[in-house]
Amino acid sequence: MRSVIDVLDLSPEELDELITCAKDIISDPKKYAHKCDGKKLATLFFEPSTRTRLSFEAAMYELGGNVLTMADAQSSSAAKGESVADTVKTVSCYADIIAMRHPKEGAPLVASMNSSVPIINAGDGGHNHPTQTLADLLTISMEKGRFDNITIGFCGDLKFGRTVHSLINALSRYQGVKFVLISPEELKLPDYIRINAIEKNNFEYIQTTDLESVMPELDILYMTRVQRERFFNEEDYLRLKDRYILTPEKLENAKSDLTVMHPLPRVNEISVAVDNDPRACYFKQVLNGKYMRMALILKLLGVE
Ligand code: CP
Repeated sequence: MRSVIDVLDLSPEELDELITCAKDIISDPKKYAHKCDGKKLATLFFEPSTRTRLSFEAAMYELGGNVLTMADAQSSSAAKGESVADTVKTVSCYADIIAMRHPKEGAPLVASMNSSVPIINAGDGGHNHPTQTLADLLTISMEKGRFDNITIGFCGDLKFGRTVHSLINALSRYQGVKFVLISPEELKLPDYIRINAIEKNNFEYIQTTDLESVMPELDILYMTRVQRERFFNEEDYLRLKDRYILTPEKLENAKSDLTVMHPLPRVNEISVAVDNDPRACYFKQVLNGKYMRMALILKLLGVE
């Protein structure tokens, strides 16, 4: 029985296998339509979500399985004070696999230590979001055809942006990646990720507050939302939230084959006018997330 709490729980070879499987699902979905007949996925979401929860559920339905949903902690016994451990001990009596999102960092890890079925971390606080990274890696694979020798800019809230943390960790196992970290001083990448993932692996990187000056060198631009729900005061959020807004004008100096990514939801940080630019790939990421979650469910359930 295996859980996925951190993207580093999966080896680069396993990531390649998941990408290959997802591409096969895309090319022949009927082959997979009954792979999970009789199986149940529970989605335990203690924090809001549109894409992650619904794509997990769509993934399980498209594999022939069924879904048990807890979309809102307030409608569960968590609202009466039940612990995460007791919740998963209970839900693992009903489901074969659980996808959990929680505002507290480490909650899915605690869940995995108390569950008799696999736990998938669907986002824990400002820490990790490994299945968003699976969506991101499939998108990069499709758009760039490689993970080595790319220059990738991460822009916005690098402090609380869990998708950024997981993707940097995943990319730190490839060669020749250059990391361009663009954020306000207050929202810089946490030291533990910069040191462990980037510096210890001798990757080239720069930290800057200026998006426009680095735009021409980027192969990928990964925009992020300022994470309002992680701020201690509203005043700081309001001061920082519109610091970076990507517009068609700002893309004029970018490479013609730039890949613009965003885990979504978007607030203001990408103008809707960018959506029609062929370089905008954020809605492709949404769809890719479903296929990668299908591949991950198959792997963790041990389905051939
Ligand atoms: N990218 C992502 O996690 O989106 P949701 O919060 O809508 O699930």
